[in-house]
Amino acid sequence: MTTTTLIHRDLTPTVGSLVETDVDALLSGRHADELRGLLERRSVVAMRGIEIDDEQQVAIGHTLGEVESSVVGDVYKVTFDRQLNPVGAAINRATFFWHIDRTDLDVPPFASMLSAKVLTPTGGQTQFVNTYAAYDALPDDDKALIEDLQVVHCMETAFLEAFPEPTEKQRAAWSQMPKKVHPIVWHHRSGRRSLVLSNSATAVVGMDGEEGRQLLGRLLAWATQPRFVYTHEWEVDDLVMWNNTGAMHRVREYDVDFGRTLHRTTLLGDEPFDPANGADVRRG
Ligand SMILES: [Fe+2]
Repeated sequence: MTTTTLIHRDLTPTVGSLVETDVDALLSGRHADELRGLLERRSVVAMRGIEIDDEQQVAIGHTLGEVESSVVGDVYKVTFDRQLNPVGAAINRATFFWHIDRTDLDVPPFASMLSAKVLTPTGGQTQFVNTYAAYDALPDDDKALIEDLQVVHCMETAFLEAFPEPTEKQRAAWSQMPKKVHPIVWHHRSGRRSLVLSNSATAVVGMDGEEGRQLLGRLLAWATQPRFVYTHEWEVDDLVMWNNTGAMHRVREYDVDFGRTLHRTTLLGDEPFDPANGADVRRG
């Protein structure tokens, strides 16, 4: 086995690394520790020219962690094309807003990777915030203010933002969605701290509705300043990974009629938003 050092460079000062590698190296797993280290420090790892099929994508996932299996298999097709993904439209539209994946769980996924298959001529960039950097740069007064705050999360809030005029049926279904309470400051096992902000954030525990919404809005505006954001301009065969425990992300508007399709593989997490919620459980 060759022990070469992974070639990478920073994409912005705070978030994202561009890694130069190839399919064979990724499949060998010889850079897995370095890639996980970059995900921890830089939140996003982007690679160009990684032409892979689904089987190879899942195999790369296995070198980095435990791959999530769902009813649709180990690869989820991110697309508005109803033939490829009959149920994705509501979720996809909610991803146009800043979020952390799976705030409905106690233990969210560690990371996900997207392989670009079909793109649009304009729009569709994916943007990422390094939520560690956004926390670290907060003024001390704000760190003290939010240190012990808890936030109610519910996907109903995310869907209502994406669909401001829902049908009665949608409204009724979304109102049944479960709620979770997470701290707004994530105390990681590493000792580092990051912000837990997402389009599912509904209310701050102990604040009235308006006060809580204003604080959440102010923190979101802080965290999404250009200095904490990396915008990925997709090319076909890009492979982009992000650390869901240290990043928020969103996709920019695009014309859904072009059949934009990215294949996604998710790695299970083992770190709860709240350390009190079972440090060693894998799923909420
Ligand atoms: Fe997402």
